[in-house]
Amino acid sequence: MPVVRFIDQASGRVLEEIAAEAGDVLIDVARFHELPLHWRCGQGTCGTCKVHVEHTGQPGVAKVGRKERNVMLRAGLIDAAMAATEEWPDTAETWRLACHLVLDDADWRVLLPPAE
Ligand code: FES
Repeated sequence: MPVVRFIDQASGRVLEEIAAEAGDVLIDVARFHELPLHWRCGQGTCGTCKVHVEHTGQPGVAKVGRKERNVMLRAGLIDAAMAATEEWPDTAETWRLACHLVLDDADWRVLLPPAE
């Protein structure tokens, strides 16, 4: 059972620590617990739910699907070269979209950026 710690990126303060289930989608966990994760569509198409994540598998390689890459390219979060490859460096500096992140058994730290 993964533990997800939601962190306010600006202050570094832990907002909440949640016992989630492997297979949960990150945005659903944040929404259910009413955490200040800025989102708009909830369906993976707008690019507003961007987060940085840290988990025990890093550094590693993340497989990122075409839809997430296209949305992030349109949102200006990545460049065309990164949009063209499905294998990304899995690091704490890599932007990801909470709508597309499915939790595994690892514990996660999710850094919530300030709302724009
Ligand atoms: S809320 Fe729109 S992509 Fe996640």
